[in-house]
Amino acid sequence: MMKIAILTGAGVSAESGLGTFRDKDGLWTKYDLNDVATPEGFARNPALVHDFYNARRANCVDATPNAAHDALAQLAESAHEVALITQNVDDLHSRAGCLDVIHMHGQLRRALCAQCDARWDAPLVMHPDDPCPFCAQATIRPDIVWFGEVPYHMDKIAQAVEDAALFVAIGTSAEVYPAAGLVELARGKTLEINLEPSARANAFDEHRFGPATEVVPAWVAALL
Ligand code: OAD
Repeated sequence: MMKIAILTGAGVSAESGLGTFRDKDGLWTKYDLNDVATPEGFARNPALVHDFYNARRANCVDATPNAAHDALAQLAESAHEVALITQNVDDLHSRAGCLDVIHMHGQLRRALCAQCDARWDAPLVMHPDDPCPFCAQATIRPDIVWFGEVPYHMDKIAQAVEDAALFVAIGTSAEVYPAAGLVELARGKTLEINLEPSARANAFDEHRFGPATEVVPAWVAALL
């Protein structure tokens, strides 16, 4: 039995048809993140932000987990003690059968009231005028961590990475902190799995480059 901490990013869901952010044709080449992924953007134009996340939610519902999600779920169910940390706001790890996923950037399927802090399951389509089911204010937003906000569960995540004998980052460009800095907390071995070297590739002991649907199942099979 080994303690393993895994950090996933958009690259793990790319082959399920969900766009990444920074690749060629990525979401941040089509949208300005200041408009759709900051509290200031939401204050300026909540309808635009809801439209953006409504479209992401629709894509997510249509997508299915791929071989990388399946392999990680298999690993999580094995004798190894796995902490699965994701930057992804989709639910493909859960739908692959991972029971305990740490969503550090929130979730598309959850809604949050900016007024009373209540959280609930998001409808497929959210509108800025919809009342909060708890306080009735029209202050609902997707439960997504935007730039300038603090990611969720950071204490638990830092502990899991420190305690792990192996830290693995999969499908992330390592351009966004604090996720990109987690590798610095690792005391065990570190492995990067990605299409190409990330911005923090030099911080990892080992690398495996290639599509997640090929590299992740092969890595998991070798481990089990
Ligand atoms: P990025 O789009 O920045 O990076 C995706 C990474 O996945 C890149 O390094 C790609 O080379 C790699 N990749 C693409 N296709 C792949 C495949 N089939 N197999 C393996 N790797 C592949 O996405 P993230 O690093 O997840 O935050 O982005 C981090 C955060 O920035 C997101 O959580 C989001 C975004 O802004 C917020 O919106 C708050």
